[in-house]
Amino acid sequence: MSSLLVDNIGELVTNGVAEGPLGIRRDAAVLVEEGRVAWVGPAAYAPAADRRVDAGGAAVLPGFVDSHAHLVFAGDRAAEFAARMAGQPYTGGGIRTTVGATRAATDDELRTTVRRLRGEALRQGTTTMEIKSGYGLTVADEARSLRIAAETSTETTFLGAHVVPAEYADRPDDYVGLVCGPMLAAAAPYAKWIDVFCERGAFDVDHARAILACGQAAGLGVRVHANQLGPGPGVQLGVELGAASVDHCTHLSDADVDALASTRMDWLSGSETTTVATLLPGAEFSTRSPYPDARRLLDAGVTVALATDCNPGSSYTSSMPFCIALAVREMRMTPAEALWAATAGGARALRRDDIGVLTPGARADLVVLDAPSFLHLAYRPGVPLIRQVLLNGVPQ
Ligand code: NIG
Ligand code: FE
Repeated sequence: MSSLLVDNIGELVTNGVAEGPLGIRRDAAVLVEEGRVAWVGPAAYAPAADRRVDAGGAAVLPGFVDSHAHLVFAGDRAAEFAARMAGQPYTGGGIRTTVGATRAATDDELRTTVRRLRGEALRQGTTTMEIKSGYGLTVADEARSLRIAAETSTETTFLGAHVVPAEYADRPDDYVGLVCGPMLAAAAPYAKWIDVFCERGAFDVDHARAILACGQAAGLGVRVHANQLGPGPGVQLGVELGAASVDHCTHLSDADVDALASTRMDWLSGSETTTVATLLPGAEFSTRSPYPDARRLLDAGVTVALATDCNPGSSYTSSMPFCIALAVREMRMTPAEALWAATAGGARALRRDDIGVLTPGARADLVVLDAPSFLHLAYRPGVPLIRQVLLNGVPQ
């Protein structure tokens, strides 16, 4: 069995509970065996290993867990972005533009885009990336989107209910029937999750509930695009259905916050029933919209995750460090809260306990920074601080 020791770590973020906030250890080492963390402890007591990665006194963190991304698409919407920066509002109407380009693309063109963006994200420290469909919106195009997504990630999400495509514009009930019937049947073999864009102009609460319930019955976990463009029922629908995550959460009522807070982990039974609030500040940045109030959620005890929402319309970034910097500067999160949300929080949003932490037994997905502390992720925005990434114990 080959082993690898990461040592000379100045600051190790484990996200383990024993060591206090972020589970930080100084002068630590991490032993990796078979793609897993086998041991964490003081460098002075580190066991011998076959190979060594010298962190050079820098900070080492769990790899980022980006729990919300739309990577399967063709074309871009740079002109729409330019128009928005000149004053046009974001409405989600451009989704249909990307649907047209995606339907016209070959499998290889879509695959190349997914791999390019996944590679970009990996170089910026993302070791787990959820990937949604949602720009095909026919049975065949949703199924192939998910088939291609599944080549790159096990965290795949069926978003056939992204918008009602133009050909169904005057008969949305029929489109919901298609999504719940043949589209779900074709997509489910490649999908772990189901998601709906529950928003005015996309799917109302009754349609969203029906679609999510069909997905659940087919064995998929629930996630919801909720309360992005205005107040609405999406967050409470997600809580009602036991969603792993409700995403965006930009416009929340007190009742929405209370509903999320009521799902806090049940430590007594040990059952994981938390609905995470996943905040996507890249979308507010790129649509020039007010940011979600992370402080209000955190103060209410809600579990918060940060993700990129990488997509060609509302947030064309694959950078988790950028999202961390935005969350700290614009959303009143502390650097520690933002890092936790981008690692362990993302893992909770995917109901995973083997990622987002660097404790014995976890996957050896870790990042060596070009900085002495995780604080630099927000303190030095826009600077490439990822020196090395280990994915499943393998240096990239
Ligand atoms: O999460 N809001 C819905 N879907 C994406 C945007 C999709 C697009 O504009 O192409 C989002 O922001
Ligand atoms: Fe999204």
